[in-house]
Amino acid sequence: MQTQAGDPGAFAHFDLERVDSPAFVVDAAKLRRNCNILADIRDAADIKVLAALKAFSMWSVAPLVGEYLDGTTTSGLWEARLASEFYDGEIATYSAAFKPNELEEICRLSDHVIFNSPGQIGRAQLILEHARITSGDVDIGLRINPMVATGEVPKYDPSAPGSRLGFPLDQLTDEHMEGVDGIHFHNLCEQTFEPLRRTWDRVFDAIEPYFGQLKWINMGGGHHITRADYEREELIEFLKDAKEDSGAEIYLEPGEAIALDAGILVGTLLDTGFNEVPIGISDVSATCHMPDVLEAPYRPAMLGELESEDQIPIRIGGPSCLAGDVIGDYKLPVPAKPGARFAFLDQAHYSMVKTNTFNGVQLPSIWLWDSDTDALECVKRFEYEDFRDRLS
Ligand SMILES: Cc1ncc(COP(=O)(O)O)c(C=O)c1O
Repeated sequence: MQTQAGDPGAFAHFDLERVDSPAFVVDAAKLRRNCNILADIRDAADIKVLAALKAFSMWSVAPLVGEYLDGTTTSGLWEARLASEFYDGEIATYSAAFKPNELEEICRLSDHVIFNSPGQIGRAQLILEHARITSGDVDIGLRINPMVATGEVPKYDPSAPGSRLGFPLDQLTDEHMEGVDGIHFHNLCEQTFEPLRRTWDRVFDAIEPYFGQLKWINMGGGHHITRADYEREELIEFLKDAKEDSGAEIYLEPGEAIALDAGILVGTLLDTGFNEVPIGISDVSATCHMPDVLEAPYRPAMLGELESEDQIPIRIGGPSCLAGDVIGDYKLPVPAKPGARFAFLDQAHYSMVKTNTFNGVQLPSIWLWDSDTDALECVKRFEYEDFRDRLS
């Protein structure tokens, strides 16, 4: 996959020696700018925007996110608890499958509970009725699968053939829609406006008979709205039309767009060597700190990477035992020797939430920097006990 971001922004002037290594550094000013763009669209189109915690759940900045957005979207009980503990606003919870013993608490914490199939809604009826009596109203949503493949990589395309995500739109009947308050579809990944329009064209025809019944339509995430080339004016007009046509409240639930280009992952070269190519072992690991590098796969951009033809790149990998724990070949902006600091760009979303301690590799500490004021604070440092306590 080609990385769609990688603008250094204010990090171009950040001194990497100011933080630990490894460390995530998140720029609060960039987060505010991203949230502001999303809030402007929300206001112009008169819709609601929720922050997808699965992409970025750095809860120390929950008050910042809450200043701009309408709430959060969560993927199950633990994220819903996190949302209710730290974030303001509405909570929408979707999971591909809920465990019956968790559903009552999920209903208590959430405003919208979104199911992946009518079968699950049917089996949950008793729990839903009980939850309504004990904890008040909760809207029931159904995620549909639009069956409009828009992604370049099937792994990231919920409409790919054989997908388990969402109820196939061509199977939807009136019976399935009984008791359903809202429709949810999530069909995009790092995309601009056109695939959303294409998806909606198909969804529109299938759900039009239920306009009037639907309180809301949630158009999921994957909208790269805060990217410079996103067609925001078209999106606003589209959202206004969708709201007017359907008579429903419209929700977007972006994750990446909130933290796009808002964070770096700082690392240090620990050793260098040569085996057909120059090799560097660093304290940043692909498998432990940036698993999407291997999973997507993609090559993260490096802060200040040189483009000179004369320089030979060095292959940077992590300290783990995995032969494939390789991040990529880079022309470092500083001499590639032990102790050299470097940083990968656009690491605030999906990296921080996916870290693990395979091989006992240390977790990056988490820092908050405000490029407007230059204030810098270590929000969290992980210790040996954090590694130990995940095991038994
Ligand atoms: C149901 C749902 N909503 C929202 C999102 C957030 O998407 P993104 O971070 O790409 O904006 C995802 C991501 O996978 C998702 O599955």
